[in-house]
Amino acid sequence: MSNEAKLELEGKTFTLPTLVGTEGEKAVDVSTLRATTNYITLDDGYGNTGSCTSKITFIDGDLGILRYRGIPIEEMAEKSNFIETAYLIIYGTLPNRAQIKTFSDLLTAHQFLHEDMTYHFEGFPTGAHPMAILSSMINAASCFDEGLMNWHWGKTKEFEVYVAKLISQVRTIAAYSYRKSRGLPLIYPKQNYKYTANFLHMLFSMPYEDFELKPEVVKALDLIFLLHADHEQNCSTSTVRMVASSQANLFASCAAGVCALWGPLHGGANQAVLEMLAQIHKEGDDGSKFIEAAKDKNSGKKLMGFGHRVYKNHDPRAKIIKKACDEVLAKLHISDPLLDIAKKLEEAALKDSYFVERKLYPNVDFYSGIIMRAIGIPIEMFTVIFAIGRMPGWIANYKEIMEEPKSRIYRPRQIYTGPTQKHYIPLDERK
Ligand code: SDX
Repeated sequence: MSNEAKLELEGKTFTLPTLVGTEGEKAVDVSTLRATTNYITLDDGYGNTGSCTSKITFIDGDLGILRYRGIPIEEMAEKSNFIETAYLIIYGTLPNRAQIKTFSDLLTAHQFLHEDMTYHFEGFPTGAHPMAILSSMINAASCFDEGLMNWHWGKTKEFEVYVAKLISQVRTIAAYSYRKSRGLPLIYPKQNYKYTANFLHMLFSMPYEDFELKPEVVKALDLIFLLHADHEQNCSTSTVRMVASSQANLFASCAAGVCALWGPLHGGANQAVLEMLAQIHKEGDDGSKFIEAAKDKNSGKKLMGFGHRVYKNHDPRAKIIKKACDEVLAKLHISDPLLDIAKKLEEAALKDSYFVERKLYPNVDFYSGIIMRAIGIPIEMFTVIFAIGRMPGWIANYKEIMEEPKSRIYRPRQIYTGPTQKHYIPLDERK
């Protein structure tokens, strides 16, 4: 059977090559479509369009499968940690002892921001959203590194250092943005703390007293980072690739990813879920009123944390996070009414034909906010936590496009539907 696609257009037959991925995903390669047919494709929201081939993450939305470099997310969640996962996603293999030590030492060596960076934080008004601060300060950080500003795309020797700088400093910037937003003194990272523990230290310690690092809290946050580490060509990762394709530097490309992630339909959903649950709780609703509103297109309400462009079964990360949520709250002896509401909402929605027919299930954001709330992360930092977790995925996609020999700038076409040609009308002659 020919693996070519045949296209009938204006009485002519065109053939287009097809390709099949290692997991059986099939595509029609339309790279030559415009040149041979003078037609382009149009695909609202890119739901049917592959922007690239990639070896990093595999998702099967019907079977609820997510694998980082072939390893199932369930195994990574149970056996690995965020920094080892970051290495796997970026460099393609699980690190051996020497590799993880080198990586960890690089993260420690580059965890401090240039001291002059602290003055930039002064420029933000109190209450500035940490995602705005994060995206601007990632770009600001690159200005303090002459090598990065003069780094030429493809020069991989220094790349490892820039990877470590970005992963390490995104955490320091995030912590500082929180401290500044609360008028608290900046807390510097400790040399002997590991990644996630150091982040909690910088977030919550005080000059006179170190934050008590409960193992279950460190582990829960590390798991959240790990579960968010990559997710194939989602909105923010595609943004990073778009910017990277112009050969912009790594920091600029990932700062763009932060902006795309911020939207409530994407990474901003974890904050929106908690705001939704808190509103339901405040109104004394058991969730049933809200579910009806979420089904009504005119209400302007959605069941935040539900639905996914790819997962039409369950989001495997949601199952892992829900279990971790129960465990962390039990260990911390916290009973959270918002968790009870979330469980009621999930139960009701999974039985409601509106959600069932549209294959809308809880996604990664539905329960993550409840864990973050339980471990004391302020709600305005929820999407920042997502960005810290997603950084390895953005970096891996940047690296993949940088190493692609035939890499071209991303430049989609369009179908113009505006006015046909008309002429300039001088001001005095206009109505
Ligand atoms: C993330 O892409 C990724 O991989 C993202 C992510 C990652 O790791 O990077 O997984 C992280 O962003 C998870 C998603 C977080 N966002 C939310 O939880 C926001 C609420 N969800 C929706 O906005 C929506 O489900 C999306 C944005 C997630 C998906 O949007 P799609 O694929 O464009 O689907 P759609 O809007 O076309 O919805 C199809 C139908 C519509 O109804 P009909 O027009 O067919 O009648 O389902 C309805 C929608 O109105 N619908 C919802 C709904 N989500 C979809 N109705 C009520 N509540 C919802 N949450």
